[in-house]
Amino acid sequence: MKFSAVLPFVAAASASCLRGTSLMPRSADGTVEANSFNYTNLGGPLNWYGLDSANSACSKGKFQSPINIETDEISYAAANLVHFHVPKADDAKFENLGSGLEVVLTNGTLSANGTSYKLAQFHFHTPSEHRINNEYYPMEVHFVFENTAGAVAVVGFVFELSQFGYSTPLFDSVFAHIDDIAVPGTYTKTDKLDFSGLTQHLNSHGIYQYSGSLTTPPCSESVAWFLSTEPLPLNVQSYNAVKHILKYNARYTQNALGQDNLLEVAAKELN
Ligand SMILES: *[C@@H]1O[C@H](CO)[C@@H](O)[C@H](O)[C@H]1NC(C)=O
Ligand SMILES: *[C@@H]1O[C@H](CO)[C@@H](O)[C@H](O)[C@H]1NC(C)=O
Ligand SMILES: *[C@@H]1O[C@H](CO)[C@@H](O)[C@H](O)[C@H]1NC(C)=O
Ligand SMILES: [Zn+2]
Repeated sequence: MKFSAVLPFVAAASASCLRGTSLMPRSADGTVEANSFNYTNLGGPLNWYGLDSANSACSKGKFQSPINIETDEISYAAANLVHFHVPKADDAKFENLGSGLEVVLTNGTLSANGTSYKLAQFHFHTPSEHRINNEYYPMEVHFVFENTAGAVAVVGFVFELSQFGYSTPLFDSVFAHIDDIAVPGTYTKTDKLDFSGLTQHLNSHGIYQYSGSLTTPPCSESVAWFLSTEPLPLNVQSYNAVKHILKYNARYTQNALGQDNLLEVAAKELN
């Protein structure tokens, strides 16, 4: 999960260098600044604190996400207490941040656990970040909400490949022009977005809830997580197209909630 407002950015100059080069597909609508962290070697999750000391929660926090959700231990939100509302949009900006694919859409609200939030963006991870009874899924989407008091909540869904070649239509519209943004730091537009099917899915199944963190730097805690218990269907073509561009952007499974950060535990073992 990421939270653009607080991410370290590469210098504007390096992003603008992409402009007008032959690397940039003609069909991209423009450029955005790509993130400096990633999922490989020293840019990866084991070294996010090493990239920037502002990321200390990544290696010291005890309520870090993603987790392995044990379905007989996690708490469940009452579905009628989670109000997820995102109105239809004619289109939205769809960005390749290098570290992830993000749709910028701020017309949306969440009211959950007695708090109200506004949508900031939604983005994708492949493979899934959360595991459910140890199992991972091919993809996960995070709808990131925040409020003026600085509280953050995320509504997440994992995806399972459909044997019927079917995707929730919303995601066909999101990924319609994904091939335009193969180069990190570029953006395009989605097709028309209709969230009604997704909302119905959320409202008609259980919702796991726990207090965790952002899964990307700075890994800030006190993030309210709400995850649908029922995977969304995803067709194989969409999955392969997304994986081809996203490559790999899942943080490793963190220690159980409240337990010492795995990096601290591992560092002590070395000493
Ligand atoms: C990952 O990030 C590190 C640190 O910013 C950088 O040196 C490296 O080139 C990046 N690797 C990839 C594959 O983007
Ligand atoms: C968001 O809501 C505002 C006010 O209701 C509206 O003017 C605007 O067109 C909406 N934007 C999108 C992308 O739907
Ligand atoms: C809901 O609110 C309670 C009380 O403030 C808090 O302890 C709990 O962690 C919250 N749940 C989530 C999922 O953040
Ligand atoms: Zn995420």
